[in-house]
Amino acid sequence: MEQKLREIASSFALEGRVTAIDSLGEGFINDTFIVRTEAGAPDYILQRKNQYVFPDVPAMMDNIRRVTEHIRRGVIAAGGDPRREVMTVVPAKDGRLYHIDGDGQYWAVSVFIDDTTAYNKADSPELARKGGEGIGKFQAQLADFTEPLAETIKGFHNIRHRFVQWDEALARDAAGRKKELAEEIGWIESRRTGMLDFWSKVEDGTIPTRVTHNDTKINNILFDKQGEVLCAIDLDTVMNSPSLNDFGDAIRSYANMGDEDDRDLSRVGISLEMFRAYTDGYLSQRAKQLTDAETDHLAFSARYITYEQVLRFLMDYIDGDTYYKIKYPDHNLVRTHAQYRLLQSMEGHYDQMCRIVAKTADKYRKA
Ligand SMILES: Nc1ncnc2c1ncn2[C@@H]1O[C@H](COP(=O)(O)OP(=O)(O)O)[C@@H](O)[C@H]1O
Ligand SMILES: [Mg+2]
Repeated sequence: MEQKLREIASSFALEGRVTAIDSLGEGFINDTFIVRTEAGAPDYILQRKNQYVFPDVPAMMDNIRRVTEHIRRGVIAAGGDPRREVMTVVPAKDGRLYHIDGDGQYWAVSVFIDDTTAYNKADSPELARKGGEGIGKFQAQLADFTEPLAETIKGFHNIRHRFVQWDEALARDAAGRKKELAEEIGWIESRRTGMLDFWSKVEDGTIPTRVTHNDTKINNILFDKQGEVLCAIDLDTVMNSPSLNDFGDAIRSYANMGDEDDRDLSRVGISLEMFRAYTDGYLSQRAKQLTDAETDHLAFSARYITYEQVLRFLMDYIDGDTYYKIKYPDHNLVRTHAQYRLLQSMEGHYDQMCRIVAKTADKYRKA
């Protein structure tokens, strides 16, 4: 294996002689390795890209290059360290941003950023705040990036697109499960108009489309040894969409007191403390840039993204479990119920969420 990895690494324009290649088994999507080089040269991250999730790796890498080059210009202009405060893509020797191996697999390399602190789970308000700050900073650095990016995952967070799939899934009823799901299907249908109303505001430009990260987990943000945000990594999903999507998706996972697939629904619900902390970190970076329409819909975005997830889990259950990996037969139904409980909790606490957003936005607009 190491020999094959060395061969792959040798097709990239690396500085310094490679001394070792080790697996870095933390990600869920890609296979990640660290390429160690002799003293004086940087180490590198070598990744086999998941072609099942990302069918167009060249377009994805081009998105990453353009976004990181934009951030780098800003970091340099502000007198920061461009080797640490932004991810650096390393091209192959032939100038492309990826290498295709003998098996048709795509590989890419970036500079390894060392001396960092990484967190695997945001399980305290302090970490939730840092997570919000990390994604907020990333979005802020791209606020003036106006060229379109490739849509590497079609229809991402687009509920109109989801309803097309949903209607087809119901019509197919592939697993014959629809008859037992009248209640759950009702949860989706009773909110259809409200969700489409929200998305119409994105479609008509009331809510602007910007650059989003789309994988806001805290382990995709690197911090320095003092715990200050360095940069966002794992930019495979970077795309054009409303800023709200990153916020809503982060709240769906950071602020849920239970698990995404909790069988014990009494554990599931929104933690307003975690919501407040994430919102504070996020708006510390974004309050002055967001339009009123965006700020006014931040709290709703958490409902929107959670609703979409209820729909997707239920749709996959109706389809016979073809998309999400399941660990037991009704796993997708358990997930549907757990995310629906979270959605209900957000609906029940919606006024409080709106007040937290308004107060926090106010604080940072004045600051
Ligand atoms: N440029 C980098 N510098 C330092 N560590 C990195 C870098 N890129 C990735 N990592 C580490 O590798 C892990 C997995 O990489 P990531 O790009 O997030 O892959 P995945 O898509 O599989 O989550 C990250 O969580 C981080 O710990
Ligand atoms: Mg990752």
